Amino acid sequence: AMKQRLLVVANRLPVSAVRQGEDSWALEISAGGLVSALLGVKDVDAKWIGWAGVNVPDEVGQRALTKALAEKRCIPVFLDEEIVHQYYNGYCNNVLWPLFHYLGLPQEDRLATTRSFQSQFHAYKRANQMFADVVNRHYQEGDVVWCHDYHLMFLPKYLKEYNSKMKVGWFLHTPFPSSEIHRTLPSRSELLRSVLAADLVGSDIGELKCKRHAFEEGGNIEAQKFPIGIDSDRFKRALELPAVKEHINELTQRFADRKVMLGVDRLDMIKGIPQKILAFEKFLEENPTWRDKVVLLQIAVPTRTDVPEYQKLTSQVHEIVGRINGRFGTLTAVPIHHLDRSLDFHALCALYAVTDVALVTSLRDGMNLVSYEFVACQGEKKGVLILSENFGEYNMWLAAENGMFLRLTGGEWMTTMPEHLNMDWVDSVKHVFEYFTERTPRSHFEHRETSLVWNYKYADVEFG
Ligand code: UDP
Ligand code: G6P
Repeated sequence: AMKQRLLVVANRLPVSAVRQGEDSWALEISAGGLVSALLGVKDVDAKWIGWAGVNVPDEVGQRALTKALAEKRCIPVFLDEEIVHQYYNGYCNNVLWPLFHYLGLPQEDRLATTRSFQSQFHAYKRANQMFADVVNRHYQEGDVVWCHDYHLMFLPKYLKEYNSKMKVGWFLHTPFPSSEIHRTLPSRSELLRSVLAADLVGSDIGELKCKRHAFEEGGNIEAQKFPIGIDSDRFKRALELPAVKEHINELTQRFADRKVMLGVDRLDMIKGIPQKILAFEKFLEENPTWRDKVVLLQIAVPTRTDVPEYQKLTSQVHEIVGRINGRFGTLTAVPIHHLDRSLDFHALCALYAVTDVALVTSLRDGMNLVSYEFVACQGEKKGVLILSENFGEYNMWLAAENGMFLRLTGGEWMTTMPEHLNMDWVDSVKHVFEYFTERTPRSHFEHRETSLVWNYKYADVEFG
């Protein structure tokens, strides 16, 4: 049978290009949840259209890169430096991203009339038109065009202008802000109307209520929830590889006398990284006996490094980590290992496997995949997953269904450590379990060897 042909359009291609010479390119897997999720899409004949993450001003380079990408079923959209600056760094990541995560508009963009805002919005539309041009050139009758994320909100409209018969879906992988927040965005109606040109509007998290509300005026639009996930077999297979097993052994030996806490995030302000590290400091401060028994490994993948807010965050995190390691480190050990880089897939799997406590502390997030990946790699170990509130609801179900301990009520951070004691939950946690037991068999929660040594009070660290 013929497979359904699919054109996936996202700002970020699954591979990013690094130039090796005039006409030679190396391709690396891109980091980020959207790419990870779509790597799991199977049984369709899919091609990707998107930006390869580099500026390629010359024709020789463009031709060579197009060819290299074709082998990965990818088609590039070439964006020049100025467009990237205005569209990607500016409108996408300095305006829409923080706004959709409830962080509000950056101060200098609050006034709709500022020139930078206007020109960024203009560049955003131009970039969307460039994506539409490339899609239109590769479109064949019968293709389904699947557009992704906040970068491409004008794309459905532009595509339908080319060809009203094109089947177009648009999916958002971030939260969508409530109308109170949303209406602080000057260009909101135009953006929404453009999205509504799609045949289907989707989201992977449980926030459709506000989306429905926002989209109501759009009339006949199909809005649905499609929780994305991971290809968990890919992780389980990796754990069976001899090299990965060996790496697991090494890590187990290295941290034999310590509990391993792990954070894996892009270094983004929505991930609550400073908050997580400060809570860890408070924990060490108040529990001296734990000081030489626990280590926090934080993988902080550099991201959007040309956006000033991200640069500020990087130095802020470095400062905090340096201070805490200076304070609690010894001649032979430090409490926090902070890595400013990405890990390859196998190293990441090994790390997930040896972790005792994973900390996913986003202030707001869409569907968070790190939590899924941790669960997939834990197997029988069944460590602790600490999730903050304000994720997609599926993140919570996932943890519950896998017998993981988690905590999310009241806006406080959950902070527990595994230990061989009983199920000594504090009251505030109990009702989370009641909530979940309606959905999952009781037995999932039996035999948990977890006790609460780190109370939610550590959440209230001052930060600023
Ligand atoms: N990731 C990666 N390289 C790393 C660390 C993480 O590619 O060094 C991946 C990780 O495996 C996960 C994704 O980045 O699939 C992060 O997805 P998530 O949904 O947690 O957050 P996002 O980055 O999309 O906001
Ligand atoms: C989030 C967004 C994705 C994006 C990813 C990485 O997951 O929803 O659209 O690709 O972050 O960010 P970047 O700016 O590097 O593409």
